[in-house]
Amino acid sequence: MPRPVTLVLGAAAFTGIANAQQYKLVDNFTEENFFDNFDFINQTDPTHGLVNYVAAQTANNQRLAGYYSGGVYLGADHTNQVSSDGRPSVRVESKKTYNHGLFIGDFAHMPEGCGTWPAFWTYGINPTWPDGGEIDIIEGVNAQETNAMTLHTGAGCSVTMGDVHSGTNLTTDNCNDNEGKNGCGEHSTDTTGYGSGFNAKSGGVYAMEWTSESITVWYFPRDSIPDGVLDTDTPDTSNFGTPAAQFIGGDGCIIDDHFMNHVIVINLTLCGDWAGKVWDEDSTCTAKASTCNEYVENNPDAFTDAYWLVNSVRTFEQTSSSKRDIPKPFTA
Ligand SMILES: *[C@@H]1O[C@H](CO)[C@@H](O)[C@H](O)[C@H]1NC(C)=O
Ligand SMILES: *[C@@H]1O[C@H](CO)[C@@H](O)[C@H](O)[C@H]1NC(C)=O
Ligand SMILES: *[C@@H]1O[C@H](CO)[C@@H](O)[C@H](O)[C@H]1NC(C)=O
Ligand SMILES: *[C@@H]1O[C@H](CO)[C@@H](O)[C@H](O)[C@H]1NC(C)=O
Repeated sequence: MPRPVTLVLGAAAFTGIANAQQYKLVDNFTEENFFDNFDFINQTDPTHGLVNYVAAQTANNQRLAGYYSGGVYLGADHTNQVSSDGRPSVRVESKKTYNHGLFIGDFAHMPEGCGTWPAFWTYGINPTWPDGGEIDIIEGVNAQETNAMTLHTGAGCSVTMGDVHSGTNLTTDNCNDNEGKNGCGEHSTDTTGYGSGFNAKSGGVYAMEWTSESITVWYFPRDSIPDGVLDTDTPDTSNFGTPAAQFIGGDGCIIDDHFMNHVIVINLTLCGDWAGKVWDEDSTCTAKASTCNEYVENNPDAFTDAYWLVNSVRTFEQTSSSKRDIPKPFTA
């Protein structure tokens, strides 16, 4: 039998591994390959936005999408008045699907302003929404100044909140998106993390880690990105510091039963079920027009800043050595 000291060391190492998830790079989507790896979704917006999601060639011809300034530009039309057909915009989805992993998005700019509803998110394509789950990493509407991170699932997923930045709290522990429910959200109070505050700092980095135990989001403003986030192929999330949001599955939510086969999505819709519905509650926006649709139809100039500029989206998987195994039995 090993001496007791071996057992103590083994136990300590096991705890360490549980927190320190080592990753290795899988995909590096940048100005060199982004559009080879994402599809344009040319469909009606299911959230009823005043938007016309155009196909790839149209988007590029109309300068709504392309490689630009060292990154990937994705935006809405900002030159034409539009009718109720909607303002041209884009929604792109990764060709690959993912189960678990670390996803790091580095954005120089995100869409901002009244009428906008941008999102950087993932969702399960099989089974169909919401049963494959949805993870909203960056999302908000109108002149909102802070980011909302949200999970949407089928019935039977109740989470708890981890140790996150002070000010963040959980809207509800029930992530079910059926029966008129809206998922479970953690809303940041950091005004550098969304919209104009984010853009004023030349953006920043959002990282999302998805394991069997939890779903965690970190935000790093451009001027405080720690070493080991962008400058490595093998990030270790135990060095990422306090997250902006963390949803822990525990007994209430078997994460692997509710989140699977996710694609990565970046979209920009306008008005619709969120931005349009809360227009009246946003004094900055109501001062500009009486309804969201009226504003979006008649004010192309207002959408000059309604674009994403993506430096990179990178994906990582856990290295097998860091996957949590059952501790090895002692050999006799
Ligand atoms: C990702 O690709 C870019 C070029 O598009 C390169 O500069 C960068 O070093 C790559 N990053 C990693 C981690 O491989
Ligand atoms: C855009 O993204 C948000 C992300 O939460 C999503 O709810 C909405 O349906 C999306 N609009 C579409 C389908 O493009
Ligand atoms: C698809 O894109 C074309 C142009 O690229 C556009 O005319 C059409 O309205 C789009 N269809 C939908 C359903 O968004
Ligand atoms: C959530 O946060 C807001 C402001 O940050 C606070 O007013 C509210 O009381 C909090 N709710 C809970 C349930 O902690």
